[in-house]
Amino acid sequence: MQIKEAVFIVSNTEIKNCPIDKKPEFAFIGRSNVGKSSLINMLTAKKGLAKTSGTPGKTQLINHFLINDKWYIVDLPGYGYARASKTMRSKWEKFIADYLTKRETLMNIFVLLDARLEPQKIDLEFMNWCGQKGLPFSMVFTKIDKLSSSVLQKNLAKYKKEMLKFWEEMPPVFTSSSNSGFGREQLLNYVEAIIK
Ligand code: GTP
Ligand code: MG
Repeated sequence: MQIKEAVFIVSNTEIKNCPIDKKPEFAFIGRSNVGKSSLINMLTAKKGLAKTSGTPGKTQLINHFLINDKWYIVDLPGYGYARASKTMRSKWEKFIADYLTKRETLMNIFVLLDARLEPQKIDLEFMNWCGQKGLPFSMVFTKIDKLSSSVLQKNLAKYKKEMLKFWEEMPPVFTSSSNSGFGREQLLNYVEAIIK
């Protein structure tokens, strides 16, 4: 898929304020700092579209970006942001859970995972929660430019082993680097196949 146009539409904390034009949307979620906003900028080839930062907790709202006037990319706040207060955290969790479970136009959740890390409890729990709620998701490993391919293969295998303890089969798995652009075509082709 060619991305001809990517425009920021709205930021908010409530599903009732999300766009109402029923265009299909794809959400990007994962731990704080995993690279959600960077991946969105890489996919759209627009550097400053989604705000990125070296400090975790940058994205705090549900952000809708309209692509080719046809579908939405949704940037979400990260989970597991240690420095957020408990009340802030449960507030975030509530609006994210609300958005993910009630948004009828949500086609797929891209769960971003840091390729450098071994399987993390919080990520496995989040994916299991998606499964329990019947929400379609895929796994996207980020920052693969930061590790050797042998370590990447090792971490992927460990994730597969953990996932297959709960699941009969693996969801779609992607590997990506926002620095090199690796994974862009695969991810966009996947979106295209779903919205067709
Ligand atoms: P929050 O909005 O805080 O939840 O973070 P986020 O998941 O949106 O992460 P963000 O895109 O802001 O990136 C976090 C940091 O990781 C930034 O310093 C990025 O430059 C860096 N980063 C993101 N993706 C990559 C990547 O593919 N490779 C490398 N080397 N660095 C990356
Ligand atoms: Mg972000």
